[in-house]
Amino acid sequence: MPSPGAGSPRFISFEGVDGSGKSTQARQLAAHLTAQNHDVVLTREPGGAPGAEEIRRLLVEGAPGRWSPETELLLFTAARRDHLERTITPALERGAVVISDRFADSTRVYQGATRGGRAEIVDQLHRLMIGREPDLTVIIDMDPAQALARTQSRQSDNAPDESRFESFGLEFQHTLRQGFLDLAQRWPDRCRVIDGNRPAESVSEDIRALWESFSA
Ligand code: TYD
Repeated sequence: MPSPGAGSPRFISFEGVDGSGKSTQARQLAAHLTAQNHDVVLTREPGGAPGAEEIRRLLVEGAPGRWSPETELLLFTAARRDHLERTITPALERGAVVISDRFADSTRVYQGATRGGRAEIVDQLHRLMIGREPDLTVIIDMDPAQALARTQSRQSDNAPDESRFESFGLEFQHTLRQGFLDLAQRWPDRCRVIDGNRPAESVSEDIRALWESFSA
C-alpha cells in the first residue's frame, strides 16, 4: 500500500452543523483515497471505538437537558480520549490516513461557543487530555435553516432517537455556524471552509482538490 507523501495530511477531520453533509463528504473522500490504494480509516465522533460508542449513546439519546454542560463536556472528552487511544493513534502509527467525522472542533463549538462562554475550560481540558489537532480540517459551511430541514427529514426516516442536539433549534444552528467560521480564523493553517450549499458532487470535487493542494 502506498504511504501518503511526506507532506500529505494524515489526520483529516470533517466539521459542520448537523445536516451540513459532512458525513457524506467524509465517506466520499475515504472512498476516493481507498481507490488510490491508501490505507484509510474512516471514523466518527462521538464514537469511533467500542467504549466511545457506548459513551455516544449516553450523549445523543434522551432529553436535551439530560446532562449539565460540565458533565457533557467530560463525556465528550472521555469518548475522544478512548477514540484517540484505541483507533486514531494506532492507525496513524501504522501509516494509515484517518478521516474523522467530527473531532475536537465540535466540542469547541458545541460545548465551548454555545454554552455560556466555556471556551477556556474546553481548551484546558483539550490540552490536558487530548493534545492533538488534525492536519487538515474541512468545515462544510451550510445555511443553518437548510441544514436543519435536512436533519428533520432524516430523523423521521431512520434516526429517531439521536435527536438530542438537533432539538435545540434554528437559533442554536446559527450560533454553531458562526462558531465554526470563527474556528477557521483561529486555525487558518489547518482549517478550510467549503461551501456546502451545492450539489454533493461539486462539494466532493472541491474537497479532493483541497487534499491534493495539501499533499503537494
Ligand atoms: P453526529 O453523529 O456527527 O451527528 P450528525 O451526523 O447529525 O451531525 O454528532 C452527534 C451530535 O453530537 C451532534 O449534534 C453534534 C454533537 N457533538 C457535540 O456536541 N460535541 C462534540 O464534541 C461532538 C463530537 C459532537
